Amino acid sequence: MKTILAFFGLIVLTVNSYGQNLSSPNSELELNFELNSDGTPVYALQYKGEEVIAESKLGLELVDDDKSLMDGFEVKDSSTSTFDETWKPVWGEQSEIRSHYNELAVTLEQPEQDRYIIIRFRLFDEGLGFRYEFPQQDNLVYFVIKEEHTEFAMTGDHTAFWIPGDYDSQEYDYTTSKLSEISGLFDDALTGNASQEQFAKTGVQTSLMMKSDNGLYINLHEAALKDYSLMNLNLDESSLTFKSWLTPDAIGNKGYLQAPAVSPWRTVMVSDDATNILASNMNLNLNEPNKLEDTSWIKPIKYMGVWWEMITGKSTWNYTDDLPSVKLGETDYSKTTPNGKHAANTEHVKKYIDFASKHGFDALLVEGWNEGWEDWFGKSKDYVFDFVTPYPDFDVEEIHDYAASKNIEMMMHHETSGAIRNYERHMDTAYQFMNKYGYTSVKSGYVGDIIPRGERHYGQWAINHFLYAVQKAADYKIMVNAHEAVRPTGLRRTYPNLIGNESARGTEFQAFGGSKPNHVTILPFTRLIGGPMDYTPGIFEMDISKLNPDNNSHVNSTIANQLALYVTMYSPLQMAADLPEHYEQFMDAFQFIKDVAIDWDESHYIEAEPGEYITVARKAKGSSSWFIGNVNGTTPRKTKLKLDFLEKGKTYEATIYADAKDAHYKTNPQAYKISTKKITNKSTLRLNSAAGGGFAISIVEK
Ligand code: NOJ
Ligand code: CA
Repeated sequence: MKTILAFFGLIVLTVNSYGQNLSSPNSELELNFELNSDGTPVYALQYKGEEVIAESKLGLELVDDDKSLMDGFEVKDSSTSTFDETWKPVWGEQSEIRSHYNELAVTLEQPEQDRYIIIRFRLFDEGLGFRYEFPQQDNLVYFVIKEEHTEFAMTGDHTAFWIPGDYDSQEYDYTTSKLSEISGLFDDALTGNASQEQFAKTGVQTSLMMKSDNGLYINLHEAALKDYSLMNLNLDESSLTFKSWLTPDAIGNKGYLQAPAVSPWRTVMVSDDATNILASNMNLNLNEPNKLEDTSWIKPIKYMGVWWEMITGKSTWNYTDDLPSVKLGETDYSKTTPNGKHAANTEHVKKYIDFASKHGFDALLVEGWNEGWEDWFGKSKDYVFDFVTPYPDFDVEEIHDYAASKNIEMMMHHETSGAIRNYERHMDTAYQFMNKYGYTSVKSGYVGDIIPRGERHYGQWAINHFLYAVQKAADYKIMVNAHEAVRPTGLRRTYPNLIGNESARGTEFQAFGGSKPNHVTILPFTRLIGGPMDYTPGIFEMDISKLNPDNNSHVNSTIANQLALYVTMYSPLQMAADLPEHYEQFMDAFQFIKDVAIDWDESHYIEAEPGEYITVARKAKGSSSWFIGNVNGTTPRKTKLKLDFLEKGKTYEATIYADAKDAHYKTNPQAYKISTKKITNKSTLRLNSAAGGGFAISIVEK
């Protein structure tokens, strides 16, 4: 410990400073922590001797507390430890996960206030996690956060893959630019999703992926976001320093804490190889172990849905166009005129069940089955849905019996339209209804402004609700896939019935004007760091006007790229999102969707470059079969794919679904070529990926 002399006005004070270093298990990362001269905690991070985070401040500003938890700290205690364990996820990219880190916990006291906090650092081989802890004590009981002041000082003008900071939505296309260009490009980056409120034109969301000019891949995110507000990052352009910016509540406060409490983990991943970012389990390892005793009812799901026809505008969720507005319980739907486009009707649903059953799917989602869609976005949305009243043409009992006879589980849909209080009022009866009719999973949704007004999708209040819905679902043995909820931060480890989230720009945007062709080469580096996405791949008809003449959207992807997504976008929940009649036109390509596994023993990240390409190989759980996916950005690309991860001495047959020579995401998206080949672990495959294309390979032992 060194002693530094500091001047405060005329008085000379002796301030205890303190410095400590911590290394990662492989010694490649080094963390420095110290208190600066005014007792402000600061940290820095090096990777292989190169600075990744320059000296950056830590602290929290409190409401009605002049001192705040910012400075005037002295080190009361510090301890280091090592942790190394291997655990088994209920489902995942691999059947065993190692969690290995060195830890430094520093207890910091503000002597005048007679209170203390702990800052805990965990250094893994792939990166750093740290959090604030507020132990139970007399002089820090309840407190309100005005702002968290965690800094991440960048050491250069890195290239960033970013979406605008927002309190309510992550459904943006990514912009790739230098950090210094963010504010200039900000308004353009809002395109297509300008309805939500942004906090600053230099604000971005996490998980934020960056690449330095020296070829370092750096990722900033958070883990275990619970009972706290989401962290956006605001860039100080002059110093290239990111500063945490929490999501406010309706009156502008950013968090209400009662000790004992902890903040989420703030994470920095770094590597000189992009595949290490994809392979990292650090985010999961910073979450608590599984809290559910019985997990036998939690299963990965491959599903279809009465869905894409509504998203494209071919059909509707609502039953009638008659009504200017609907009040639940006061509308007799059987007296209204059906609009003839209501997809969730018994006969139509049965056709989907037949198709899904014939091709070996587990489940079928049906949206628009329940009353209220005529005004789901409107003024009365706080009482428009009760989640238990089907439209007159949806016979829930008949559909359930029919699905059961065909070995298909029905997937429930709860669109809350952001009316969280209404959902909580109805939650028990809604889950009981699901138990009664054999629904084992629910897709929930939070479209539009949160009710009560002024709350945000990413504020502490809504975040508490999202977890409450998952915990309560577990009581009823129900799996949850929440759309428009907060982006995941690894909570699936603690609550493995959280099997999916959207919380990013999913396939639906391909029918709302299209997404950038390289979008899917970025998502695994950003949104997927925190957990799986219900991306809803598998679109084979790219010209949306064929479904709805009024919709000119084009799906910016080739069919081979759509197939690859089942491997590159890891999720225990995979949808075949297109209509049965479109699959019927390409049954040979559809075979890959039928075959591909949804739970894995091993995953190998073969090559990757954010924005350009990703190639992943995964071994199906409990089987010797492998599946490989490659997604490609806009530059056509050749891959020399070594298969050395296959088991030595075995012979396999590979079925390769590749872009045809003249394939292109825009001009020729349906051109693919299927071939088969005998292979061993000594084989190398040479493959071409078109612009917006890719390839998918299934490998079976012979
Ligand atoms: C938005 C969701 O992302 C989409 O999947 C769903 O169909 C609609 N909301 C309606 O709930
Ligand atoms: Ca959505």
